[in-house]
Amino acid sequence: ETVSWDADDVGKGGYDHYMLKEIREQPTALRQCLRGRIDELDGTVALEDIADLDHSGPVQFVACGTSYHAALFGAERLRAAGVSAQAFLASEYTRERVPVDSDTLVVGVTQSGETADTLRALRAADGAGATTLAVTNTVASSAARECDHALYIRAGPEIGVAATKTFASQQLALALLAFELGGEATRAELEAIRDVPGHVQTVLETTTATEIAEAYVDADAYFFVGRGYHYPVALEGALKMKEITYKHAEGFAAGELKHGPLALVSENTPVFAVVTGDDEAARKTIGNVKEVEARDAPVVAITDGVSDVARYADHVLEIPAVDDLGASVLANVQLQLVAYRVANQLGRSIDKPRHLAKSVTVE
Ligand code: G6P
Repeated sequence: ETVSWDADDVGKGGYDHYMLKEIREQPTALRQCLRGRIDELDGTVALEDIADLDHSGPVQFVACGTSYHAALFGAERLRAAGVSAQAFLASEYTRERVPVDSDTLVVGVTQSGETADTLRALRAADGAGATTLAVTNTVASSAARECDHALYIRAGPEIGVAATKTFASQQLALALLAFELGGEATRAELEAIRDVPGHVQTVLETTTATEIAEAYVDADAYFFVGRGYHYPVALEGALKMKEITYKHAEGFAAGELKHGPLALVSENTPVFAVVTGDDEAARKTIGNVKEVEARDAPVVAITDGVSDVARYADHVLEIPAVDDLGASVLANVQLQLVAYRVANQLGRSIDKPRHLAKSVTVE
């Protein structure tokens, strides 16, 4: 007697899609990313992969797609650590446009390590004498081989075209890189990073993304807003939504809403607002949420409940109360789940969206 099985289904480990499997693997992926890299007794970060990287000048990130959003996050993180840092779309990065010299560290953020635009940008940087670093998931990829240094994010293979666990792993790897380049981390910061995988597990177990997806599956468009670390999350939330649902989705810096996007807002366009903590950024974003609410658009707040944003929201996606960095990882997981649930209700080809490829090897 034989039992027939489908290699594809086995790979999915019981999940309907690789994407959901990969979203749910994030606590494990993140633990792998951190393993052996934080010494809590010493209060230090040790990145063996780049032990021989000694850099004190400016940093430029180059990347595409989801990895670009991680790069925006990484640049923000480095600036917070006192390092001059900027993120560029790899396709927009040329030596004519971007001053780069031998004092610059150019970091290519690329899950596959094979994205043509990113490789070209890294080669341009190398040609200008810059030091190059690949932050990648793929050992011996072109980026890893061609760059002076490689830092592995250790997320494990990602099959779904829409990047999920690799984004979260990039976020944590870049947070570690910021400690490496920016100087000592505090014990509290290290503990906060160490605890991110466990908090992601909590989000996965308590999410109400399915309900939110049901409420808004027929929406005309989806908007996402955030500030600071949450701005790249807003961009990524929108990218995930458009990639797998084929519906219009846009992410904005919350402060930009009033400079145009507000004209698009209606009762059929839910606005997802990431608001954590109760600092000035949170209060300003709550101000933006009120503007949206006054135009009758439904508001979904992704929040830790520290501020009173829930009062102005139609729905809440809760995350544990942690620091900004961790919160942006957790908020993104909620948005991944919402996009997945909407796409699933629409019956989309989630793991292989139309017109898209996992790795784009042409410029
Ligand atoms: C493609 C994929 C995206 C990915 C981008 C960059 O467009 O569909 O999910 O973010 O390439 O890929 P990389 O391998 O360089 O991170």
